[in-house]
Amino acid sequence: MTAAAEQPEPGGAPAPWWRSAVIYEVYVRSFADGDGDGLGDLPGVRSRLPYLRDLGVDALWLTPFYPSPQADGGYDVADHRDVDPRFGTLADVDALLADAHDLGVRVIVDLVPNHTSDRHPWFREALAAEPGSPARRRYVFRPGRGADGAEPPNDWQSVFGGPAWSRVTEADGRPGQWYLHLFAPEQPDLDWTNPEVRAEFEDVLRFWLDRGVDGFRVDVAHGLAKDPEMPDLAGRLPSSGPAVEGHPHWDQDEVHEVYRAWRRVSDAYPGERVFVAEAWIATPHRLARYVRSDELHTAFNFGFLLAPWDAAALRRVIDTSVDALARVGAPPTWVLSNHDVVRHLTRYGGGPLGLRRARAAVLLMLALPGGAYVYQGEELGLPEVLDLPDELRQDPTFTRTGGAERGRDGARVPLPWSGDAPPFGFGPSDRAWLPQPADWAALTVEAQQADPGSMLALYRRALELRRHLPGLGDGSMRWLDAAPAARDVLAFARDPGVVCVVNVGSTPVDLPADLVAGADPVLASSPLPEARRLPGATAVWLAR
Ligand code: NOJ
Repeated sequence: MTAAAEQPEPGGAPAPWWRSAVIYEVYVRSFADGDGDGLGDLPGVRSRLPYLRDLGVDALWLTPFYPSPQADGGYDVADHRDVDPRFGTLADVDALLADAHDLGVRVIVDLVPNHTSDRHPWFREALAAEPGSPARRRYVFRPGRGADGAEPPNDWQSVFGGPAWSRVTEADGRPGQWYLHLFAPEQPDLDWTNPEVRAEFEDVLRFWLDRGVDGFRVDVAHGLAKDPEMPDLAGRLPSSGPAVEGHPHWDQDEVHEVYRAWRRVSDAYPGERVFVAEAWIATPHRLARYVRSDELHTAFNFGFLLAPWDAAALRRVIDTSVDALARVGAPPTWVLSNHDVVRHLTRYGGGPLGLRRARAAVLLMLALPGGAYVYQGEELGLPEVLDLPDELRQDPTFTRTGGAERGRDGARVPLPWSGDAPPFGFGPSDRAWLPQPADWAALTVEAQQADPGSMLALYRRALELRRHLPGLGDGSMRWLDAAPAARDVLAFARDPGVVCVVNVGSTPVDLPADLVAGADPVLASSPLPEARRLPGATAVWLAR
């Protein structure tokens, strides 16, 4: 039972689970290896479900496990209705769903609708077919510009570096049309104006909903529709980064029709199945459009993730998020890390300071109204691995920028479970697809389970309290404006009965007397050596 499910709404019906859910991202390749090949897999995830139940999360999001050449860590899907043998079988999915549900944990899978793999049968067919043929019209093929069409159709750039277009060789052996790929060349973009594409994905949704998944995380949810004129960016607009208004390939209004149709599909199933939008959008009010009541359910709040460790910046993003989402009746959500960004412990300064701030940050995040997303390993206080050898890096960002961007592998290093030496119980062999630092011996689940002061102990306790304190989860918040001298302090109430105070600064502050009157500290991110004083980079939950 989630905390929300225990609290009836004013009308009497329990609030839907997803309005307050804490959802744990399992980056399948790096979570747990069941067969010893050094790559995480579904049997590995299944074997660790009790760990996730004990951690106290409500649901898992599994990153793509579908057949894929792994040109982009599985976000290049060659078959949307099967499992890559490296990750298991469909029977493993069924077994994982059954076990997770028995443990009271829901499971969300990744849906990758913007593009397929270049090995998808549709793209192989498109390459073999004529320009203008139905097979080509499932993707975005265009003639080139310039003499003999030798220039790309426009100046759009791939998120991973280089042009967003690649040229194909036609059946007669001559250079021919170009196809669009906003990501790697191995990830051709689908044409979402084509009804066949829409029908196919609605069918894919039903395939997984019929198997019992609790929902989908929608990859690049802001990318499906493109301006039909395909205008040049001409230096006016950035290719990547959060979408700004008027962009020709991000956040086009036509994406919303797709999500309304999907919502009709999922609403026909029992049990509150959900969609979570991965949409990098610059403004909360544009993001809120994805979670209107007849579209997707929640969206990752990347504004919160990107905010610096600064009280004013955090407060601004909290306020604008809460306000924009309230206007559409959707719950806010909060996220600190995922498999695409530098881990937040490192972003917050690394070392003991980064750890201290990361401990405070999770108490802030879990006290805010709505839902939250936890990325595997943050509960162990894992830092970004910055010194991976270049030859082991697999992220296409690294190769496509000639190494100028280091890529995302440093956030994807396999989890340390137990023991004193790599691969720290990752699987039954001595292999792990990326090397783990030797000093992760102190960060294993086994080591932290034995230490009440560990990051893991903090996450467990916070998640446990979140389930039991009625003020937390879905609902509203009230800022408690601290004394002006304490401008580094964020203090807010979650009625009934909970107050969260975060000292974002580096020096201790007094806890305002009216805040602490009659309330006890129930959890602090770092020890509180003095009564009524909050040390720097520390958060506390008070309850009455
Ligand atoms: C977002 C995913 O999280 C990321 O890993 C992937 O590279 C892109 N979408 C493209 O699918």
